[in-house]
Amino acid sequence: MGEDRSGAGTESSLRALKPPPDRLYGRARGHKLRPRQVQLLDVTLPRLSFAPECATEPFSAFPHGPAQLWLEVGFGGGEHALAQIAEHPDAGLIACEVFDNGICSLLSRLVPEGGEATAPLPGNLRLWTDDARVLLRLLPDGCLDRLFLLFPDPWPKARHAKRRFLHPAMLPLLARVLRPGAEWRVATDDPTYQAWVGEVMAGEAQFRAPPPATERPAGWPPTRYEAKALREGRSPLYWTFIRR
Ligand SMILES: C[S@@+](CC[C@H](N)C(=O)[O-])C[C@H]1O[C@@H](n2cnc3c(N)ncnc32)[C@H](O)[C@@H]1O
Repeated sequence: MGEDRSGAGTESSLRALKPPPDRLYGRARGHKLRPRQVQLLDVTLPRLSFAPECATEPFSAFPHGPAQLWLEVGFGGGEHALAQIAEHPDAGLIACEVFDNGICSLLSRLVPEGGEATAPLPGNLRLWTDDARVLLRLLPDGCLDRLFLLFPDPWPKARHAKRRFLHPAMLPLLARVLRPGAEWRVATDDPTYQAWVGEVMAGEAQFRAPPPATERPAGWPPTRYEAKALREGRSPLYWTFIRR
């Protein structure tokens, strides 16, 4: 029983949950990188990185002076991030990912072979390749208009609940950086995480939490993990939480 449950339980047991550890679980490195991937990380990534010095004035990282600042946690292969910046040139998106192969996957879609040092890069995208929580702590109050958490690592065992990104201990930080009226989009196909999201967000004072959609809403570009979930017969849920 215990191992498979969401690990959330009652409101008082939610409060008693262990806080998320500062270290990050999961993989930062995958297969040995090919020469092209090494080039992308060594040459292209620095051209697109969000510099920690910009964290206190995050709009300054974008040359076009974006109207809104958005942040994606765990962009995976980058499908969603790239679709969003193409559709919303006025927004500035900070896309966060720690997994080398994922970062290379996004960069390889942006830059043709041989253009690692010179190909033009989108002005409305910046990459943060460390733990997103570190950046979130550095950002000023109310700076974000949108936050995306799409198919986060589910950590389905109850004893690993503290590793989940959406966690009661994270909510004050997320509430601090999201401006009133901002959207926080969350999707997951994992039944344990689905129950967990419902339990953690129920009665959460800082966010309006309407029931999740069962179909991907318009304006949510698909992701690789979503496609895998659908192929394998799982049913994702899509939440849009609104910062009060
Ligand atoms: C299950 S994958 C989903 C990827 C993508 N969102 C999708 O839907 O295809 C979750 C990703 O989140 C990344 N991740 C997990 N915790 C993170 C954190 N604190 N900061 C940045 N990335 C994180 C992992 O490296 C992993 O690539």
